[in-house]
Amino acid sequence: MALTFGILTVSDRCFKGESKDTSGPRLEQEILNKFPMAKIAEKHIVPDEVEEIKECLKRFVFQSYNVILTTGGTGFSQRDVTPEATKQIIEREANGLSHVMTSKSLEKTQYAMLSRAVCGIKNTTIIINLPGSEKAAAECFGFISESLPHAVSVLT
Ligand code: MTE
Repeated sequence: MALTFGILTVSDRCFKGESKDTSGPRLEQEILNKFPMAKIAEKHIVPDEVEEIKECLKRFVFQSYNVILTTGGTGFSQRDVTPEATKQIIEREANGLSHVMTSKSLEKTQYAMLSRAVCGIKNTTIIINLPGSEKAAAECFGFISESLPHAVSVLT
């Protein structure tokens, strides 16, 4: 099965052009390494604003992409609201995915406990929050990617 992905970078600095988005492109590369047949249907950057994150998630879900990966905005800073926006979109939580990301990430850094990433399902789309740094996003995707084809086949 050829999986379709949407990648959403959530970052005030990248949105304003003050930083270069390296996490989105890195995720694209990680996806294609793992699933050479996958299609990266859309990539987008939004600021750390609940409404803008929700609008993009809704748009990606409407396109029925199999998986949406968000990167950024999962931490404790006042502007980190990606999990709150995600919770307003999903119908069902997929706690197993966030649990695995946290537990495996704790083997790399104790700061993994500071990610509030949420994962869940809306219609036939799986939405997965990943942390913002390129390294953290790639690591976390690596921890859960193996299970995605089965998850998608059950959903669709
Ligand atoms: N998870 C992994 N696997 N590797 C990491 O380096 N960094 C952590 C955590 N999760 C990290 C990780 C750090 S330092 C923070 S602050 C939180 O993710 C939240 O990151 P975010 O606010 O950029 O989303």
